[in-house]
Amino acid sequence: MILYGAGDHGKVIVEILEANNIQDIVFWDDNPKGDLWEFKVSKSSTNIIVDKYMIISIGNNIIRKIIAEKTNKQFNFAKAIHPNSVISRRSVIGQGSVVMPGGIINANSIIGEHVIINSCAVVEHDCVLADFIHISPNASICGNVSIGEGTHVGAGAVIIQGIKIGKWCTIGAGAVIIKDIPDYAVVVGNPGKIIKYNQST
Ligand SMILES: CC(C)(COP(=O)(O)OP(=O)(O)OC[C@H]1O[C@@H](n2cnc3c(N)ncnc32)[C@H](O)[C@@H]1OP(=O)(O)O)[C@@H](O)C(=O)NCCC(=O)NCCS
Repeated sequence: MILYGAGDHGKVIVEILEANNIQDIVFWDDNPKGDLWEFKVSKSSTNIIVDKYMIISIGNNIIRKIIAEKTNKQFNFAKAIHPNSVISRRSVIGQGSVVMPGGIINANSIIGEHVIINSCAVVEHDCVLADFIHISPNASICGNVSIGEGTHVGAGAVIIQGIKIGKWCTIGAGAVIIKDIPDYAVVVGNPGKIIKYNQST
């Protein structure tokens, strides 16, 4: 297994893989700064065809998307699901996505590719999350919520049932979202208010 990105997010993903008894792990990094713990960190390369699986272990949603687009012809993307997460058998999780300890994905939800469901985040029933999203620790996504590509939901944020969140939004830590949110909006507070817009990708 190749983990692309030997930073902090990579540390967490490697422990998810270890918890699944996956031991054959190497890191790639565009700017390697020495090995990470007992794991070799090599300079990233897209010139060779590797028959192994890869997870892009980079927390930044835009960079994860750029690397996925650069590497998707050469590699198969794997998932990393922590054994102490709870995943409905009627939910679907896309390739390249990770679910951290305590993460919950409830019935009939669809999680896109290269998504991060961070520690103790809850995605309730019938949600639809697009690709390259990050749901931070302890965030609660209530039932029937949809979230567009690349959106970051901050730690402890709450999105009430049935809300539609656009693409490449940022939901601040602790925000409570009770109305639909347009693409690229940055929202903070309770109730959530738009304070600015992210640059379009
Ligand atoms: C929302 C967020 C992205 C804004 O960051 P930023 O663009 O650097 O904005 P600033 O820090 O300049 O703050 C702008 C204003 O919003 C307020 N604000 C920022 N984040 C806030 C939050 N989470 N809740 C309430 N108000 C917040 C600031 O106090 C400031 O208010 P002011 O203009 O009255 O002084 C950031 O604060 C945040 O919450 N990020 C999520 C972090 C997180 O959950 N990480 C998880 C990693 S796993």
